[in-house]
Amino acid sequence: MTKTVLDAINQQINAELGASYAYLAMSAWCERQNFTGCAKWLRLQSQEEQTHAMKLFDFVLARGGTVDLKAMAQPAGSFRSVLHVFETAYQQEQEVGRQIDQLYELAFKEKVFAAMAELQWFLTEQVEEEKTAREIVAKFKLVGNDPSSILDLDRELGTRTGAEAAAPEPA
Ligand SMILES: [Fe+2]
Ligand SMILES: [Fe+2]
Repeated sequence: MTKTVLDAINQQINAELGASYAYLAMSAWCERQNFTGCAKWLRLQSQEEQTHAMKLFDFVLARGGTVDLKAMAQPAGSFRSVLHVFETAYQQEQEVGRQIDQLYELAFKEKVFAAMAELQWFLTEQVEEEKTAREIVAKFKLVGNDPSSILDLDRELGTRTGAEAAAPEPA
């Protein structure tokens, strides 16, 4: 493991924890607005981002590197609507996707093959997460301001279970 790649992975641990923190803030907002299904979905997503961080955390340690936890940014805590919540989530996933791409490119340039293998999982996972977020945004856009349709969507999102969250195996 080169220092550049190690630093970048530590940065990504921070980004995954930041995503977890941001989802937690979104969950709290939704719960306050009585969108309990959305709140549950977002809470599970927050937990899933935590498992992403831990996957990298364990990888750094397995390679004999030092885990360097950094300060976390304060996440947005107020939103205009549930659509706005999921638009924010989608933007966040796209940003994380770009970060993973850059990290993979760096590992490639530095010829850190073990990190490339580890990051393969994240590339695949990111495709899925961006797709899911994009679909939820599309559904909320489709129903617009119709209260009963919004409540239907809220109920649908509330059916998410922990097991479905595709938590990664510990590294
Ligand atoms: Fe993630
Ligand atoms: Fe994510």
